[in-house]
Amino acid sequence: MIVRALARGDREAIVAVIDSDHSFKADEVAVALELVDAAIAGSTDYQVRVADDGGVCGYVCFGPTPMTLRTFDLYWVVVDARARGRGVARTLIEFMEAELRARGGGQVRVETSETEGYGAARALYARLGYPEAARLADFYTPGDALITYYKVL
Ligand SMILES: CC(C)(COP(=O)(O)OP(=O)(O)OC[C@H]1O[C@@H](n2cnc3c(N)ncnc32)[C@H](O)[C@@H]1OP(=O)(O)O)[C@@H](O)C(=O)NCCC(=O)NCCS
Repeated sequence: MIVRALARGDREAIVAVIDSDHSFKADEVAVALELVDAAIAGSTDYQVRVADDGGVCGYVCFGPTPMTLRTFDLYWVVVDARARGRGVARTLIEFMEAELRARGGGQVRVETSETEGYGAARALYARLGYPEAARLADFYTPGDALITYYKVL
């Protein structure tokens, strides 16, 4: 498996990766694709790297946090449901971190939800050394907090 920059022709494969997960809500899919489309259009606000093992099996989307000097947001990481548990997300995030360090990045912020569907994501961030920095109760819906992880690179 390699990690590489996004190519224009990857859009369909990325849609398939997102569709392989049945827990995303329609508005989440729309936002995820909006960011991918911005990256394809050449935005530097949203950058995408894909994991490719003969086809796209996952991607990470990140970008500089507006109004900060050296902070980046990790917006989305998704691995095809058929390719999970093999270190694809870890490889993508470590690739992103190495790239950000080389570019002078200082911190990475990640936001996620406390719902069950995001349990794998929370375990992933904990495993990769992203400490929980804040928790805003009832943020998404009653009983569903926003959790912010914040890693110093
Ligand atoms: C979260 C997600 C990206 C993980 O992808 P993955 O390629 O399967 O993850 P990896 O194999 O790289 O796992 C790395 C570590 O994360 C943790 N982890 C990942 N999935 C886990 C799960 N289902 N349960 C518990 N821990 C998990 C493990 O600690 C693992 O390390 P280990 O294998 O050394 O124990 C994947 O499940 C996914 O796409 N989920 C849906 C999308 C999503 O929620 N994205 C994040 C919010 S945008």
